[in-house]
Amino acid sequence: MTDENLSSHLAELDLSPSPELAAEANGTEALYAEAEADPEAFWAKQARERLTWAKDFDQTLDWSEAPFAKWYVGGQLNAAYNCVDRHVEAGNGDRVALHFEGEGGDTRTVTYAQLKDDVCKAANALTELGVEKGDRVAIYLPMIPEAVATMLACARLGAPHSVIFGGFSAEALRTRINDAEAKVVVTADGQWRRGKAAPLKPAVDEALAGDATPVEKVLVVKRTESDVDWTEGRDVWWSDVVDRQSTEHTPEPMDSEHPLFILYTSGTTGKPKGIFHTTAGYLTQAAYTNSVVHDVHPETDVYWCTADIGWVTGHTYIVYGPLANGATQVLYEGTPDTPHQGRWWEIAQKYKVSILYTAPTAIRTFMKWGADIPAKYDLSSIRVLGSVGEPINPEAWLWYRKNIGNDTAPIVDTWWQTETGAIMISPLPGVTTLEPGSAQKPIPGISAEILDDDGKPLTDPEAVGYLVLTKPWPSMLRGIWGDPERYKETYWSRFGDKYYFAGDGAKYDDKGNIWLLGRVDDVMNVSGHRLSTAEIESALVSHPSVAEAAVVGATDETTGQAVVAFVILRGGAQDDGDATVQELRNHVAKEIGPIAKPRQIMVVPELPKTRSGKIMRRLLRDVAENREVGDVTTLADDSVMNLIQQGMGSGKED
Ligand code: WT7
Repeated sequence: MTDENLSSHLAELDLSPSPELAAEANGTEALYAEAEADPEAFWAKQARERLTWAKDFDQTLDWSEAPFAKWYVGGQLNAAYNCVDRHVEAGNGDRVALHFEGEGGDTRTVTYAQLKDDVCKAANALTELGVEKGDRVAIYLPMIPEAVATMLACARLGAPHSVIFGGFSAEALRTRINDAEAKVVVTADGQWRRGKAAPLKPAVDEALAGDATPVEKVLVVKRTESDVDWTEGRDVWWSDVVDRQSTEHTPEPMDSEHPLFILYTSGTTGKPKGIFHTTAGYLTQAAYTNSVVHDVHPETDVYWCTADIGWVTGHTYIVYGPLANGATQVLYEGTPDTPHQGRWWEIAQKYKVSILYTAPTAIRTFMKWGADIPAKYDLSSIRVLGSVGEPINPEAWLWYRKNIGNDTAPIVDTWWQTETGAIMISPLPGVTTLEPGSAQKPIPGISAEILDDDGKPLTDPEAVGYLVLTKPWPSMLRGIWGDPERYKETYWSRFGDKYYFAGDGAKYDDKGNIWLLGRVDDVMNVSGHRLSTAEIESALVSHPSVAEAAVVGATDETTGQAVVAFVILRGGAQDDGDATVQELRNHVAKEIGPIAKPRQIMVVPELPKTRSGKIMRRLLRDVAENREVGDVTTLADDSVMNLIQQGMGSGKED
């Protein structure tokens, strides 16, 4: 569709909420006014109504040491109790918590009563392995029910978990394990990926080898029946230690501000940041947003969030939000095209999925595969669709609604971050008249503004500025693990300590909708995964052949952005063309993980730098996106760009 056709098509659509949906939706227009009138009272009510407290709190928010927030001060609760036990106590033990679907077709149905038993056994096992309240546990597991049980077992013990995405390399694992000083690692022999067993445990062995490691025990789930190396005294099988445990375990109430988890994410420097979240505020906003934004009705809906638990979306919208709400969900281990490109729709049909939450990059991939694939399945159960991770382009929005959402399902385009913990900007189904491509407005309880370079609020339509959040919110990050200064500096200094700087560009349209315009820092978004240019650059220069490297995110039709690298080889190193490029791509995969592999690496004689030596990424982005190169007048040597462009076209992906 041309842009013009698309706009006229969009203009003809009625995207106001249907009366049926409006009548039943959890979200209401009244919530906005209520939250606006007294935000703290609003959040206090959400916390008391949605969670079960061992001890009520006496103060909703303590912001006296801003930007270090304390929510629900004096309160006590246990997150695992809220996610499982209380549903069983309320008589819903037989309700399905997880419809697990393994990639190879093996399935497991886990009810809330069973999940409670699994969590208790895992908590008892971790205790036996020496885990105590406050100790950190690293989790490097596939998308299997044990992963959910382990996270909740940690929460039950008050041992913050640090989940590390299964696609990260041994090196990435080592950095994260050491930074969090994890005492125990929970992993599996391997995971199923595209019909093959992909090993996991070898990466853990490598990450723990060498210098002193903080890790004392490694608990290993048998998933792929692969041969693994074994370190006696350190490694134990899940089947030996967890299966024999008692299903009784008393959850200890935790302080509202007790750390719940650490999750590493990429920032503007080479070192990943350990974002940490605490118990009550995080759980409140997770449960609230899953209810009003995804519109989950736990008695009737089957909800499916396709994220991996290694990312924040999996934490908040597979584990904590839906389980706190007592929802029934699908958990799928594998890739969307195994064994065929209709796998997701087959699963959605089988379980009668009614709410689907996924990423624009997946939708664009399905568009490429063709609408005839989902058309073969009965998707009539779907009533709400969600999108997360990057802006969703209007074409993908329309395709999603038409081919997956029966041409009627509202799409909630949800903007948030690892740091925000839960959804911040999004339409509400049944309430908002939708605007394809825009996340629209802050949800009730959340306040945002768009500022110009000098920190002045922008309100004119189309004026581009920086997105900031203007009030603390319950699920906000409490800091960067071990680095309070970096927390202040990264998020609370760009516009002073009253504004949380999100790192995203944004604008309003003439209807007052917010449009997110991508990162304004050196962070890239590839398939909804956050990658740092600096981290990939330092991976590249750690290769003996590389003298210098510059990385940019170039627009990519499917993945949103793609990693493009420019490297200068060392004096003695030989440029073997494709072989060199392959070697460097594999080196990045080894240092960080396959997700960080550059799409393209160009070996260049020089990099464009200003007189003060700063690399001008803007010019490299022009080259990577096949545009005419912009203004080069500030370059120290303006012939550099000619040299670089002459070498273009080489180093393409295999
Ligand atoms: C960055 C956060 C939120 C969980 C997954 C990613 C981008 C996220 C949207 C959206 C436009 C979005 C932003 C943000 N982003 N959702 N709906 N529209 N941009 O979490 O890895 O912490 O990345 O993802 O740039 O800052 P994350």
